[in-house]
Amino acid sequence: HAADAQRTDLMTITRYVLNEQSKHPEARGDLTILLSHIVLGCKFVCSAVNKAGLAKLIGLAGDTNIQGEEQKKLDVLSNDVFINALKSSGRANVLVSEENEEPIFVEASKRGRYCVVFDPLDGSSNIDCGVSIGTIFGIYMLQEGSEGTVADVLKPGKNMVAAGYCMYGSSCTLVLSTGTGANGFTLDPSLGEFILTHPNIKIPKKGKIYSVNEGNAKNWDQPTTSYFIICRYVEKAKFPIDGSSPKSLRYIGSMVADVHRTLLYGGIFMYPADKKSPNGKLRVLYEVFPMSFLVEQAGGQSFTGQGRALDIVPKNIHERSPIFLGSYDDVEEIKALYSAAE
Ligand code: AHG
Ligand code: MN
Ligand code: MN
Ligand code: MN
Repeated sequence: HAADAQRTDLMTITRYVLNEQSKHPEARGDLTILLSHIVLGCKFVCSAVNKAGLAKLIGLAGDTNIQGEEQKKLDVLSNDVFINALKSSGRANVLVSEENEEPIFVEASKRGRYCVVFDPLDGSSNIDCGVSIGTIFGIYMLQEGSEGTVADVLKPGKNMVAAGYCMYGSSCTLVLSTGTGANGFTLDPSLGEFILTHPNIKIPKKGKIYSVNEGNAKNWDQPTTSYFIICRYVEKAKFPIDGSSPKSLRYIGSMVADVHRTLLYGGIFMYPADKKSPNGKLRVLYEVFPMSFLVEQAGGQSFTGQGRALDIVPKNIHERSPIFLGSYDDVEEIKALYSAAE
């Protein structure tokens, strides 16, 4: 069968989003247009990443962002590409980027009804050695009657209408949710199109992998309760007391890649608070929320140490939070340790 060897009925991401749109007769197609501009940004960054070493895109840009991180050339380039793509979509309003201290308010003539929060290039420390990196985004709808203010994005993650990431890995994979499950699309470079390759992703109920920067153990915020909980979890992962096999440790250091593996293979990804980062390292709006949204859509859980991650009400746009996300049962275990400690 030719069709077995070669797909002939291609579900592109545009076709998929249009299908979703048709289920909502009131929809005006704005989200579809916005998403297609985000997809364009992802294709551009993918192509830039693929030739980073050749196009002199490796190394520092010379500036420091509001988080105190040195910006890489690719952080700056990706940020510019997404800002331009979003503005030119005519569907965006308030934009929040990791690389911009303040929110960006799209000029009145180009304004739309959606707010986009994004991490243009995730995993900056992995750029120069060619390890997987990504882009993360979350989309809110403007509040009824709002002209676009920061209040439109200081909303819990459960209010997002869509979230996704694109991983620039051994292939370029975009995982998207518009609130009806999580779907994965792989870029076919010869077509320049993202094709549905991972329909309705379901994270395994329990995993065999834990993913955390254990090199931070000395700095985990000892001697707090959470310090003992994480140490206990990690210790149990290595020396199980119930006769099960030890878990494998996988940690790439690019949230996109670590979460992508967690979605497909199961397990838990953690970035707890530590002495250097008393609220954890990962940013609520454009890292914790979109990833938590996707993980929940795939049947997993996401927990902050205090509650459901998507319930956080952020007070400022670059706020951080500790995060534990992944397979339902694995996150349940962390939650039980926290409850027992109360
Ligand atoms: P970014 O490159 O967007 O600043 O994000 C880096 C984040 C995230 O990708 C990853 O999970 C984490 O930093 C890794 O941090 P450590 O190097 O401290 O483990
Ligand atoms: Mn950064
Ligand atoms: Mn990041
Ligand atoms: Mn980044």
